[in-house]
Amino acid sequence: MGGGHMVLCCSLLFVAVMASSGSATTTLPIMAFEDGYTPLFGDHNLAIHRDGKSVHLSLDERTGSGFVSHDLYLHGYFSASIKLPADYTAGVVVAFYMSNGDMFQKNHDEIDFEFLGNIRGKDWRIQTNVYGNGSTSIGREERYGLWFDPSEDFHQYSILWTDSKIIFYVDDVPIREIKRTKSMGGDFPSKPMTLYATIWDASDWATNGGKYRVNYKYAPYVAEFSDLVLHGCAVDPIELVAKCDNAQGAEVIPSGVTPLQRTKMGSFRLKHMTYSYCYDTLRYKIPPPECVINPQEAERLRKFDPVTFGNGRRHRGKRHHHSRGSQEQASASF
Ligand SMILES: *[C@@H]1O[C@H](CO)[C@@H](O)[C@H](O)[C@H]1NC(C)=O
Repeated sequence: MGGGHMVLCCSLLFVAVMASSGSATTTLPIMAFEDGYTPLFGDHNLAIHRDGKSVHLSLDERTGSGFVSHDLYLHGYFSASIKLPADYTAGVVVAFYMSNGDMFQKNHDEIDFEFLGNIRGKDWRIQTNVYGNGSTSIGREERYGLWFDPSEDFHQYSILWTDSKIIFYVDDVPIREIKRTKSMGGDFPSKPMTLYATIWDASDWATNGGKYRVNYKYAPYVAEFSDLVLHGCAVDPIELVAKCDNAQGAEVIPSGVTPLQRTKMGSFRLKHMTYSYCYDTLRYKIPPPECVINPQEAERLRKFDPVTFGNGRRHRGKRHHHSRGSQEQASASF
């Protein structure tokens, strides 16, 4: 995986990206695929467009596919514009994530965006999650619906990772902020990671009596990626020295949540969040230490799913009601 770190600085392309809100035109340092990434698996199912900046990943009965960044990064802003497969996509998972699982098998870190397919007519769900230093026994999943159909057009999905926070963005809306707390200890991702994008058959993971298996009658499933941004501190895997990218265009990279964005984040979460581990009383009698309980979110989730987000007393012994959500009970175990 080494050897690519000289490439990062030299061949960034600057392309105007229209933020989907239509409110602003920003210029992100977009990168050609080959300058930042390399195919990971399912070669024949990965197609690079003639412009060199967009990529198709497909899933058919033979294989899924994926790509990985040349470099390891310690902190930065990582982004891709993604268009998901349309129609019947049950069992299909598209993931855009950071991990160092290949280097640290027992104590890996991970930051995930996962797109969980659905049956025709039902919306895609997106899931975010983090692991730090092998904290796989504590899932920190959240799931959301979206305010648009992500298979209809490209939308930008971004991760900002610093040593004090992780922010997930959809277009220019931050949807989740994890502030590092002392009590999180090693559970906050803190070792260099590579970026991945994959499409794969999650039938065995997302089963619900076989009902949600991938149906290859509708294959190939194609996810499109463009506007790739890898803006961070690339780390030499041997010497572990970080080289930060100070490319032009960096001034448009967000560094935190503005007050206006915080309002947007609040209303997004109240409207579209369908699951948060912080409120899952079946799973955590006491929420993990970094959780900041928002009474409005708690109330809304409780109405949405009183079994999972209730007070854990009235509904004892009725766990089977939970199975409605369990096809989404997804954890990132790649
Ligand atoms: C991470 O895990 C390793 C091995 O389990 C442990 O030795 C180390 O102290 C942990 N680091 C942090 C920051 O918790």
